[in-house]
Amino acid sequence: MIPVPSVKYRAHPPVHLPDRTWPDRTLTQAPRWCSVDLRDGNQALAVPMNVSQKLEMFDALVKCGFKEIEVGFPAASNTEFAFNRRLIDEKRIPEDVTIQVLVQAREDLIERTVESLIGARRVIIHLYNSTSPAQRRVVFGKTKEEIIGIARQGARLIKDRLSRLESTGTEVILQYSPESFSATEVEFAKEISEAVMEVWQPTPERKMILNLPDTVEVAMPNVYADQIEWMCRNIKNRDSLVISLHTHNDRGTGVAATELGLLAGADRVEGTLFGNGERTGNLDIVTVAMNCYMHGIAPGLDFSNINALADMYHRTTGMTVPPRQPYAGELVFTAFSGSHQDAIKKGLAERDAGKGPEHWDVPYLTIDPSDLGREYREVIRVNSQSGKGGVAFMLESEFGIELPKDLQREFGPLANDAVDQLGREVSGAELKDMFWKEYVDRTSPWELRHFHADGVDGVFKSRASARHSGEEKQLTGEGNGPIAAFVKSLIEAGVPAFEVSDFKQHALSAGTGASAIAYLKITGPGGRTRWGAGVDTNIELASIKAVLSALNRLGA
Ligand code: KIV
Ligand code: ZN
Repeated sequence: MIPVPSVKYRAHPPVHLPDRTWPDRTLTQAPRWCSVDLRDGNQALAVPMNVSQKLEMFDALVKCGFKEIEVGFPAASNTEFAFNRRLIDEKRIPEDVTIQVLVQAREDLIERTVESLIGARRVIIHLYNSTSPAQRRVVFGKTKEEIIGIARQGARLIKDRLSRLESTGTEVILQYSPESFSATEVEFAKEISEAVMEVWQPTPERKMILNLPDTVEVAMPNVYADQIEWMCRNIKNRDSLVISLHTHNDRGTGVAATELGLLAGADRVEGTLFGNGERTGNLDIVTVAMNCYMHGIAPGLDFSNINALADMYHRTTGMTVPPRQPYAGELVFTAFSGSHQDAIKKGLAERDAGKGPEHWDVPYLTIDPSDLGREYREVIRVNSQSGKGGVAFMLESEFGIELPKDLQREFGPLANDAVDQLGREVSGAELKDMFWKEYVDRTSPWELRHFHADGVDGVFKSRASARHSGEEKQLTGEGNGPIAAFVKSLIEAGVPAFEVSDFKQHALSAGTGASAIAYLKITGPGGRTRWGAGVDTNIELASIKAVLSALNRLGA
């Protein structure tokens, strides 16, 4: 029997905020970012990062432009402590980067945390305790007052040790998280946060960070936004606070919750690369930053070589970026389907030609893949779902083969059948081989041996030798150009009458083994048409070969 969920579950109670303002706002600037890869991300790994992996990750985060990086929970393990000490002792932290450390409200842990920070230039000490009804009841078995007591005590223990750090030149910023905030009654979250503020006494000049985590997503993102707006409007001394968001992704809406939370008044965002973190992960900070970017807002983070970052992520965490991960996944800028390929191809061609609107507006591509260091060649890939547009795009982008539209219509279905039979994706080189086999290498029954044409006053005389089914033929003809003369010579040699009905030629790029390609369409008896193609270092010979390729395909 299917269980009745309403008996077992209930919707998280919403906040009463009928005059909410966030739905009418838009994002106009990027938030302050804080990476929590080395702490929240790391603590979610089956095998946590070792010191050298953490160092590699730290350097990569700095390179991306993170100015605040939570480097760990130094009191939690020797590795975490040693990592902090190496960062500080080896002076690996750039001037403009602030490291952040997490600690619970326990004296021994706070003491060890302070030791791990001695000698640092600027640090954020991040205190947290859990505040939701379930945590209060199940984990702590404490009343609200007692939970506030834990927070107040932790805040005091930290405050008492500030002079030790400050006297040795360390600037300290304080951060408090009522952990499980989104599952906590907003009134209680306010009360406990204000209790910590009372101890730390932040001012507009010396703000503290109030981090309001969606530790476990329990509601729709609009509810989180209401909670954030409610806190921003009701907490005292809002101007002495940096309101920070820290979302997870249990319901798959970490990004949405963060974006709505920013509309609701938050200043700062914590998250991880590609959303690594407990359970379904932390907020994917790459996605929110690149979402800002695609709105025309400079995120202040550099993801212009996203593939290298994903490689680093894999090396250091052992995690992989799923192929559909926004912005970073292998397939997110790829179109296999014919109609999508066609639209993308046209959109990119419009941009290349400098036509269309100034801003990016290419169908199916929300962002220019090259802004992430992604290549156009991965945009269109060919399998059995693909159409002529994708085939043509790959031949053109990889080999400079610019098939005429009508030839695309002829070759597209042939390629599609071949790919369908293979039952897998094909590379550009394989498509080129298919094209060569079908058109360029069609030397039976006709194969060119020699061709020469001279023109006087617009009249061309051609002399050619060619094999037909192994038999040598001498062909002479006359026309208003070399191709016309050659066509005439073939007809005079007994080939059923045909005419050239379309023609295009162009130089070829390196890698194709020839310098010119000609495409030529003929119309033969009964109006039957076929395209042919020829390649040669000599452009005239390429077109003559194209005539024979078309004839061979027509079956003449
Ligand atoms: O998810 C969470 O609540 C946390 C806190 C420690 C901020 O990671
Ligand atoms: Zn977290």
